[in-house]
Amino acid sequence: MNRLRIIPMDDAVVFPGMPVTVTADIGDDERVLLVPRHNNVYATAGVVAEVSERVRMAGRGFAVTLMGVHRATLGGAAEDKDGVLRVDHEARPDQNPPAIQTRDLEREYRAIVDEILELRGDDGRIRAFVRSIAGAGALADTAGYSPDLNYSQKLQLLETFDVVERLKLALQLQRDRLAELQVRKRIREDVEDGAQKQQREYFLRRQMDAIRKELGETDGSVAEEYRQKIAAAGMPDAVRQQAERELERFERMGEANAESSMIRAYLDWLLAVPWSKRSEDRLDPVHAAGVLDADHEGLEDVKRRITEYLAVRKLRAERGMTENRKSGVILTLIGPPGTGKTSIGESIARATGRQFVRMSLGGVRDEAEIRGHRRTYIGALPGRLVRALRDAGTMNPVIMLDEVDKIGADWRGDPSAALLEVLDPAQNHAFRDHYLDVELDLSQVLFVATANVADTIPPALFDRMEVIRFDGYTTEEKVAIARRHLWPRQVERNGLRIDEVTTTDAVLRLVVSDYTREAGVRQLERELGKLLRKTATRIASGEAPAPVSIDEAAVRDALGRAKVFHEAAVRTVVPGVATGLAVTGVGGDVLFVEAADMPGRGGLVLTGQLGDVMKESARIALTYVKSHAKELGIDEHALDGREVHVHVPAGAIPKDGPSAGITMVTAIASLLTRRPVKSTIGMTGEVTLQGRVLPIGGLKQKVLAAHAAGLTEVVVPERNEADLDDVPADVREHMRFHIVGTVDQVLELALESRELAVAA
Ligand SMILES: Nc1ncnc2c1ncn2[C@@H]1O[C@H](COP(=O)(O)OP(=O)(O)OP(=O)(O)O)[C@@H](O)[C@H]1O
Ligand SMILES: [Mg+2]
Repeated sequence: MNRLRIIPMDDAVVFPGMPVTVTADIGDDERVLLVPRHNNVYATAGVVAEVSERVRMAGRGFAVTLMGVHRATLGGAAEDKDGVLRVDHEARPDQNPPAIQTRDLEREYRAIVDEILELRGDDGRIRAFVRSIAGAGALADTAGYSPDLNYSQKLQLLETFDVVERLKLALQLQRDRLAELQVRKRIREDVEDGAQKQQREYFLRRQMDAIRKELGETDGSVAEEYRQKIAAAGMPDAVRQQAERELERFERMGEANAESSMIRAYLDWLLAVPWSKRSEDRLDPVHAAGVLDADHEGLEDVKRRITEYLAVRKLRAERGMTENRKSGVILTLIGPPGTGKTSIGESIARATGRQFVRMSLGGVRDEAEIRGHRRTYIGALPGRLVRALRDAGTMNPVIMLDEVDKIGADWRGDPSAALLEVLDPAQNHAFRDHYLDVELDLSQVLFVATANVADTIPPALFDRMEVIRFDGYTTEEKVAIARRHLWPRQVERNGLRIDEVTTTDAVLRLVVSDYTREAGVRQLERELGKLLRKTATRIASGEAPAPVSIDEAAVRDALGRAKVFHEAAVRTVVPGVATGLAVTGVGGDVLFVEAADMPGRGGLVLTGQLGDVMKESARIALTYVKSHAKELGIDEHALDGREVHVHVPAGAIPKDGPSAGITMVTAIASLLTRRPVKSTIGMTGEVTLQGRVLPIGGLKQKVLAAHAAGLTEVVVPERNEADLDDVPADVREHMRFHIVGTVDQVLELALESRELAVAA
């Protein structure tokens, strides 16, 4: 009979050739139909199975062992007379194609299953079983045993009647499984490896070191090299221990580890610090004075102060007096560019037999620049001090803190705070760089700071500085510097011998006065360089036979027309322009104050980037002139319906300070009285509403600038009279100084008596 009793297999799929035991009473039936079922839904195909054994179980149930025989599709179902559900079915035994067609597929399938079993750690039994299976269809059905295939995958396999298709499907499923198993294995291995390998490497390394030592080959390994370097570096104990700790960490880690290169970088930096090296310090003031004199012309005051400073240090050192808070002032050289600050720093190093390192602080805004970044930052580096020590190669160099007036502070921290610690003798024997994170003794370093102006140096720093001012050079000093230093240097730089070119002081003076306008000598050196380059070319091309003597014509020829004009004479021809004297970042300078009037409502217009203090000076000046109109001989109604405009060229450079006060009064008074200002006179001084003249700073620099600009008279506030002693004698000889206490006196001196009859 064609109808078979149906036995549902919940969430399980039985294949032909597979034995299965079910608990069910199947009466006398010899064959049943096993049909997969999921959530009460039957599959459309099943397996016809034969009973191989019946067991009556203790209690009341039955169990039967069945063996799948072949596939079948399900047809209609009906209950028989005993009420048992039976279904029609169509038998679908495998139609195996000729073996040749499936041979490759079969071979591949077997290979893959072999690999899976290998990965799963099969003891060979399953492999033997698979090998015993013959026939493509049966082989594909072995996939049904796999614990990794799910119900729907197995069902799909069951419902694929075509043998070749089924084998392909089984192959696909097993292939995916293999891939998954392999990945899983690799992950597991990686994790295990990571942990074990480190341990193993560590022990191997230890053994290797031991073997090396035994063989007397102690140089090969990187770690050993570091160990030797650390031992030889002469580090303080705490530092050496830190280095050794890091070295051990490095060894444990092995070289392949990413962090190990960071540890090496750290060790390299630790070793770069010249822990135990110092130059023989030479604190002999006589020798020092000799060296300073040989390197620099003039600067007598500066050289004397430096020699004294060294002498004091020497005495303190000899008498075993330790540095304390009060003794540790920092030598600070303040003055305009090109006046020899940096180069005198180098001379100090030479004079004391120390190394010299320059550390430019211009634009440093970040504390980490000074102190380094913590090692936890990617790409962290030590700060500038550590680098300076490395460059010096000794622990007692001269470190020049260049441009301390140009450090800033922002959210990244205040570099001047770090500098304070560096410069403080009470703290700097234990300076801690964030990167190295060990204590560094900076107390043997001789710090010398430089700045162009004093006002922008952070006050806390300025407080501990011993300031030495460089005010700039007079024309004669420049000629002397040129003669003795710049000229020989440029002669040599241009490939000439000193006896091949000659010149006179008059010619040098011409270069100074007509081609340079500066407090220092940098531009002068450049101009001399240009002059000598031209000369060298002429000698080399045979145009002029050596020795060549350079005269005024040669200078004009090489450097062109004069670059510097004595403008005061030109500018002050019209009323309303007065010549003031100022100090800027580049030294003293002359500055013209211009006043003009125009129709308006009696106000004051100010231009030329004036700071607040300077603007106030202008207002005071105007008020003063207005309130003294009568004494000054100004028409009371001169300003009715008009306003005054005060301008200070050069408009692009910011200017501030009260010292242009009397210049502003003079310009406005000149405008309104129509009396021009004398072209030979320069002035400086603060003014009050009552017309008093108050003292100002930087007199020497201002006088030098006035002299260089061709002025012959200078108005000086009473209380600055003593400062005139600082002005070099040769300049004093050429100038007339007018000492004044009130603005009346200034106007009396400065305004021409003749009134200009030209209408504005
Ligand atoms: N008195 C001097 N005697 C000899 N050479 C000098 C003298 N003054 C300056 N020089 C030379 O002038 C050049 C410029 O000097 P230096 O670089 O020291 O200037 P600076 O004051 O440091 O300027 P800056 O403020 O721009 O840094 C150097 O070559 C220096 O040797
Ligand atoms: Mg410098």
